[in-house]
Amino acid sequence: MAAQLAVARGARVFGTAREESLPVVAALAGVTPVPSGEGWMRSLRDGGIDRVDAALDARGGGALPALVAAAGGPERVVTIADPAAAEHGVRFTRGSLAGEPTGHHGLTTIAGSGGRPAATMPIRATFPFSEAPAAHDAAQTRPAWRRVALLNDRV
Ligand SMILES: NC(=O)c1ccc[n+]([C@@H]2O[C@H](COP(=O)([O-])OP(=O)(O)OC[C@H]3O[C@@H](n4cnc5c(N)ncnc54)[C@H](OP(=O)(O)O)[C@@H]3O)[C@@H](O)[C@H]2O)c1
Repeated sequence: MAAQLAVARGARVFGTAREESLPVVAALAGVTPVPSGEGWMRSLRDGGIDRVDAALDARGGGALPALVAAAGGPERVVTIADPAAAEHGVRFTRGSLAGEPTGHHGLTTIAGSGGRPAATMPIRATFPFSEAPAAHDAAQTRPAWRRVALLNDRV
């Protein structure tokens, strides 16, 4: 969703993913998939990109030093997933959990124009409320790409 928001606001966006998950990134309009791992910056350079303006870490697990180096400074990087962010001078955002903006305001950007939605939310399974435990189990299975959705069948 963050990648799609950035595309909607005019950014050129690259999304890293494990090899088997690259098609999911490729399916997002305007987002260029890049294999994750140590060679991701080289992949960008090979594609003619020599500058990264901003980076979002949604994975955690030690990606920050490379992102800071690529973006040119910690102020250009934000993470939602790495509690060691402060060690790298990077902002760790927790949204409404920390009294920060929810990000909901950005959704108007992707509400679309001319009746055409500017973003999609890939869904891999849906469950009614009564099967919430099964939905929880499904959400634990890997790979985790695509959301598991609960449908409100009580209205
Ligand atoms: N700060 C906040 O407000 C906030 C809010 C929500 C979530 N979070 C945190 O954000 C993180 C992600 O949450 P989530 O719900 O999106 O988790 P998730 O559903 O488990 O997704 C994690 C994603 O990271 C990918 N990934 C894992 N290792 C990777 C690697 N080495 N290279 C590339 N991609 C890799 C996984 O890809 P595969 O499917 O291919 O394995 C998966 O798509 C978690 O740490 C969560 O705690 C923070």
